[in-house]
Amino acid sequence: MKSAYNKNPVEIIRGKHKKISVFSTEGNNIDPIVVKGFGDEWLKFKDFSDAEIAQISAEYFDILDDNILTPSTYAVDIGCGSGRWTKALSRRVGFVEAIDPSNAVISAEHLLKEVENVRITKASVETIPFDDETFDFAMSVGVLHHIPDTQKAMVDCVKKVKKGGYFFTYLYYNFETRPAIYKTMYFVTNGIRNVVSKMPSSLKKFSCDILAITTYMPVIGLGRIMNAIGLKKAALKLPLSEYQARSFFVIRNDAMDRYGTTFDQRFSKEEVITMMKKSGLENIVVSPISPFYHAVGRKPF
Ligand SMILES: C[S@@+](CC[C@H](N)C(=O)[O-])C[C@H]1O[C@@H](n2cnc3c(N)ncnc32)[C@H](O)[C@@H]1O
Repeated sequence: MKSAYNKNPVEIIRGKHKKISVFSTEGNNIDPIVVKGFGDEWLKFKDFSDAEIAQISAEYFDILDDNILTPSTYAVDIGCGSGRWTKALSRRVGFVEAIDPSNAVISAEHLLKEVENVRITKASVETIPFDDETFDFAMSVGVLHHIPDTQKAMVDCVKKVKKGGYFFTYLYYNFETRPAIYKTMYFVTNGIRNVVSKMPSSLKKFSCDILAITTYMPVIGLGRIMNAIGLKKAALKLPLSEYQARSFFVIRNDAMDRYGTTFDQRFSKEEVITMMKKSGLENIVVSPISPFYHAVGRKPF
């Protein structure tokens, strides 16, 4: 069911289990420093448990029913990183093309070693080596807000979707529904990020672990104690409440996402819907639950 590439790779990496075709990632709409940082991040965080993948992907995929994902769906995961959501997606569709411009493809090759219905490709959103209107389903989870022109990147993703197919995305929200404390914390952590994200790789990794312990864990720990003594509703209102049921591994990974990445953008729900409409999608559904905002839309016939 997979399509042939529409150009020749510049290199082929022969991994232990799968080969990875490499295409140029040069273009105007890519931040090479961000991509290099993600390569480092995913080489460090590559061993996600199936239980945690199932638990977290269920939150992202709550709006993807069996009409959208079927055993014959041909899918692409653009900006797949470690391949954790590719793995979850592969269980519900026919075949997945996992694409990322960074060295994360090496981690994906490791995580997806036993998954037969996945092919891994090194390319960017601007250099996806497949014809337009190839896929029944495209997804880009936590990626487009790290690309300088998010709208243009979304258009590039949707171009690859067949008429009648779907595009699913997760974009950081701008805390519009949250109390001022969230925006204040965002402002403060941005200051820290400006310093940490520019550190040399190993110092950055170490600093992000320390920040996971000193800035994430106290708030998450408080939430866990509140849950244990029955204050569940109040615990849900705390910042980082989504991490109260997550492992320390995932918390460290997300702390590195937060502090180790030089560039991201945040959007309102209206902005997400507007970008999706401008990309040519309709029937847009934005999930009412966290992570905010994840949304799916359909490309009309
Ligand atoms: C936060 S990670 C998300 C990875 C994965 N989707 C997940 O949620 O686990 C962002 C990913 O976007 C990729 N990325 C950055 N710029 C990109 C671009 N221009 N085109 C495609 N992917 C890009 C990075 O290499 C990185 O792996």
